[in-house]
Amino acid sequence: MGGTGGVGIVILAAGAGTRMNSERPKVLHELAGAPLLHHAMRSAAALAPEQMVVVTGVGAHEVEKAARAFDPEVVTVHQAERLGTAHAVLQARELLGSHDGDVIVLYGDTPFVTSETLERMLEARAKADVVVLGFETADPEARYGRLVTQGDRLERIVEWKDADAATRAIRLCNSGVVCAEGTFLFDLLREVGNDNAAQEYYLTDIIEIAGRRGMNATVVRCDEAETLGINSRTELLAAEVAFQARARADALENGVSMQAPDTVFFSYDTFIGRDTVIEPNVVFGPGVTVESEARIRAFSHLEGCHVSRGAIVGPFARLRPGAELAEDVHVGNFVEIKAAQVGEGAKINHLTYIGDAEIGERTNVGAGTVTCNYDGVFKHRTVIGKNAFIGSDTMLVAPVTVGDGAITGSGSVITQDVAPGALALGRARQVEFAGFATKFFEKLRALKAATSKG
Ligand code: UD1
Ligand code: MG
Repeated sequence: MGGTGGVGIVILAAGAGTRMNSERPKVLHELAGAPLLHHAMRSAAALAPEQMVVVTGVGAHEVEKAARAFDPEVVTVHQAERLGTAHAVLQARELLGSHDGDVIVLYGDTPFVTSETLERMLEARAKADVVVLGFETADPEARYGRLVTQGDRLERIVEWKDADAATRAIRLCNSGVVCAEGTFLFDLLREVGNDNAAQEYYLTDIIEIAGRRGMNATVVRCDEAETLGINSRTELLAAEVAFQARARADALENGVSMQAPDTVFFSYDTFIGRDTVIEPNVVFGPGVTVESEARIRAFSHLEGCHVSRGAIVGPFARLRPGAELAEDVHVGNFVEIKAAQVGEGAKINHLTYIGDAEIGERTNVGAGTVTCNYDGVFKHRTVIGKNAFIGSDTMLVAPVTVGDGAITGSGSVITQDVAPGALALGRARQVEFAGFATKFFEKLRALKAATSKG
């Protein structure tokens, strides 16, 4: 079963998402640092599908762009009129209608369905022609389609709107995720009509149609939480809360210490190593890996960066995309680092901006240092060797190189390369006027006394 081809995926993402009350297409709203659509695509991608098709509708151009950003190979098809879930899947017929392998249909607004669950559905295809993902709802009034079963066999799916009281009383609901062989699925879809309460072409009708043809369907079950769909900002928030709760629990389980986990925010792909400590109020944007035994101090914000073993970051540090900290690096308060490699044991402890730069091992960067990387049009690199000492308040006007073991004097504006081992001073020479201050204040005080008398 399943044919000889690989897996095909169809992700329905045409919906308006009216209840989001937004200019932005629903599937592009973010959860755990990524658009909803990417969560569905990620679960699907784990199956290494032969082809992934995203059905777009509202905001098609933006949805297409986001889909491509995740996977340049993805194909999008446009559903001009939204006539129902069967009609939506049919938009992929040219691409998957003769697909000689299983096709899984997912929703772009349902972010938590795991690849393990999808694998279970593919396995269940050994015993059934159509596999539907179902769950027991905790809320008997929930308006999901109801799964009418006979033993292991799924007989039909009845939409809430079309269901009588007895069918509504069934707790087993349709998640919307369906799996069948491509050719067969699209064959069934052609027979779906719209004679129902919503006058829509229901994907769910394929179960009865398959039954009439003597084919069988079955249900794979998962937790209700896994099939949570997002329709409003409140539901999006609930999903975020659920995600964060799980991410925090996982981090603790994996040997990460946190004093106030409720104030730490993770992204879908955050990786934190064992024995790392995360202090309160830390935010991890997408693309962060922190190795073991590091410490991320309070109120730090990290995204797209790598922190190696033993490094200390913060409090109040900001690591932006491309920040690469080697082992035992110290980054202190009010320091921002972007697109920069910082060598082992280097220290950048106070009030500093390091962007588009390379900093050698054990170099010390003094307070208030700035890599002046932007000339208004282009970005330029600063390269600092190892064991260098950058005096406080050094402006490094890129492109510029400071050699190994060199020193820049405090307050220097460095516009030319500094040779290894040299001291560079780029500031006005100090001058001194003996006794000037004393005379100056005497004169001012005398003036004040004269004016207050008069
Ligand atoms: C659907 C199922 C229902 C199931 C529920 C789970 C059908 C007929 N019903 O109902 O059994 O319990 O999902 O959440 O399938 N979409 C399109 N184009 C369309 C219509 C829908 O892309 O023409 C997309 C939507 O954007 C959404 C998904 O398909 O992501 C489901 O559509 P929705 O209208 O929410 O279906 P429900 O009525 O909730
Ligand atoms: Mg829905």
